[in-house]
Amino acid sequence: MYSQGLDNLGDLPPEQEAELVATFQARIDAEEKIEPKDWMPARYRHTLVRQISQHAHSEVVGMLPEGNWLTRAPSLHRKAILLAKVQDEAGHGAYLYSAAETLGVSRQEMVDDLIAGKARYSSIFNYPTPTWADVGAIGWLVDGAAIINQVPLCRCSYGPYARAMVRICREESFHQRQGYDIMQSLCSGTDAQREMAQDALNRWWWPSLMMFGPPDSDSVHSDQSMAWKIKRFSNDDLRQKFIDITIPQAEHLGLNVPDPDLRWDEESQHYEFGPIDWEEFSAVLAGDGPCNEERADAFAHKYEDGAWVREAAAAYAQKHTTQSKGKS
Ligand code: 3HC
Repeated sequence: MYSQGLDNLGDLPPEQEAELVATFQARIDAEEKIEPKDWMPARYRHTLVRQISQHAHSEVVGMLPEGNWLTRAPSLHRKAILLAKVQDEAGHGAYLYSAAETLGVSRQEMVDDLIAGKARYSSIFNYPTPTWADVGAIGWLVDGAAIINQVPLCRCSYGPYARAMVRICREESFHQRQGYDIMQSLCSGTDAQREMAQDALNRWWWPSLMMFGPPDSDSVHSDQSMAWKIKRFSNDDLRQKFIDITIPQAEHLGLNVPDPDLRWDEESQHYEFGPIDWEEFSAVLAGDGPCNEERADAFAHKYEDGAWVREAAAAYAQKHTTQSKGKS
């Protein structure tokens, strides 16, 4: 996948290659940003293309579960906010596809791989949104988890990814707040509304913890990605941070986190939590989550439906280029 043009070592003699690798690592260690035209090891490039394209796909597929509520939001005000949020996610996808393109892979290749089922996107978007409270839970928990995971990516060693993340994180903060605001309204409403909020928390809590990826002991990419300063913290460290921040928020809402083992540990100053069902995570990654098929079909159909928009935009861009060439 995405292999064309990604191997830049060619036939370099081993000593020259070792020197390039050492200089590259020294730049990373000195917190210098790596830019598209700089020399980089092929594996660094591959790792970035893998992570950034998966991230872009997650933003785009992530529009589907919430898009499901655009026509059914409970008021015009809520609808306008949700519409803006879903549009932001499309924008995040666009920034991230562009960042990945600077590494020598085309957006078309990435999208083709997603449609062919060869590319990953976040496990979290394979869960259904049967009630309005799910829109609140997604904003509060899913965008909340995304912020914890993504703020450190603003310091990623690869310049275009780091810069894209600065803007994305600002918007994700607004998304988290709109989700929490929905939950607050429901929790201060009728018994039925509070129950709806609790039910959404029950269904989204564990999948949100899985968003951070497998436990550190099973994370195949973390060590190298941290050495390259693509990732700054391990999956488990970020998961713990999310839990520590989110439990007091749930308490403030008057909701119960669905984990009987959850307890505050004075000594470590962290919450201890129960076992995560990693079999469920593996099943979702293998395509057997509750909505994998539905998401794949919806994305492919929407992409097909949007062909005329892409064609019109390309024709408009070409006309403009021809006109400005004619003027000069
Ligand atoms: N869902 C799907 N796949 C996952 C996953 C998840 N939650 N967590 C890990 N994986 C996959 C990895 O992609 C990797 O698969 P691969 O080798 O086929 O690529 C495998 O599981 C092993 O995991 P690792 O921990 O070794 O992988 P990473 O070092 O890449 O860490 C990650 C995983 C923490 C998700 C990291 O890639 C990352 O930080 N990515 C950027 C952020 C991102 O993509 N977030 C997705 C959510 S975006 C979002 O939620 C949109 C917002 O609007 C809400």
